[in-house]
Amino acid sequence: MESTLLSTSFAGLYLTNPTILASGIMGYSAESMNRIVKAGAGAVITKSVGREPRVGYVNPTVVQAQAGLINAMGLPNPGIDVYVEEIKFSKTILRVPLIVSVFGYSAEDYATVAKKAADAGADAVELNVSCPHVKQTGAEIGQSPKLLSEVIEKVKAAVNKPLIVKLSPNVTDITILAKAAVEAGADALTAVNTLKAIAIDTETMMPILNNVKGGLSGAAIKPVALRCVYDIADAFDIPIIGCGGISNWRDAVEFFLAGASAVQIGTAVAEDIEVFQSVTKGVETYLRKKHYGSVKEIVGLAHRK
Ligand code: DHB
Repeated sequence: MESTLLSTSFAGLYLTNPTILASGIMGYSAESMNRIVKAGAGAVITKSVGREPRVGYVNPTVVQAQAGLINAMGLPNPGIDVYVEEIKFSKTILRVPLIVSVFGYSAEDYATVAKKAADAGADAVELNVSCPHVKQTGAEIGQSPKLLSEVIEKVKAAVNKPLIVKLSPNVTDITILAKAAVEAGADALTAVNTLKAIAIDTETMMPILNNVKGGLSGAAIKPVALRCVYDIADAFDIPIIGCGGISNWRDAVEFFLAGASAVQIGTAVAEDIEVFQSVTKGVETYLRKKHYGSVKEIVGLAHRK
């Protein structure tokens, strides 16, 4: 949907509307991402890709929670050397920015994968330093300011594309990690990845997920994600992408007011792929009703004194 009311730009990326497909859902192939673009997303983010292929965990890998999903897929992916072909093909058909989500087990890994993704045509890279349950990657990096800085500095040195860092909510004070990311050179921050969670079956009396613990997403985490965005916006002048439980225009507007320049939608896509259109249309109606000329004008308004 083209509209000056809804278009936005941050970290060198231009979006015709501020909704983005979150990593992890329908971001495997060029075709699935193109369906998302046709449904109205302003940008798309791939499922996280690493240096080597990973098959992921054995089922069950997803379980319904009261107001969301808990998943532990185990970062399944074909490895960057295979995935570069998908990135190249995606670039020939997608009309919106393509952001490649990257994970690794070391700073060198992250830099190698990010460089291959960027060289293949990714418009930006999002670092997954916040997967809550796969050992030696993800949150184990994103919970340590020192490791986080190291990873970001290595990737920045290797890649000349916008670098988005997706932070974990599973920390005591997210601004400490945000500070490390800002100082190491992140161009934008995504707040937040999933909350570490568990589901237990009363019949078997055992955890439901094969991996025991997983990441909680969806409406259940929205107020936590919103607080994280608010805290980061209060402390730093860096573009923030809100993520966590957004399924309607009101959710999106709350994130803009808290300080997000754009929002990612993931779990709600599983229910209704048209969510990008409905959020965008609702935000447009809201802006007109409130007499704003651009979505950019309401970013961070909840912080005014
Ligand atoms: C997985 C990765 C994540 O970053 C997350 O938040 C949840 C699950 C995974 O692939 O298992």
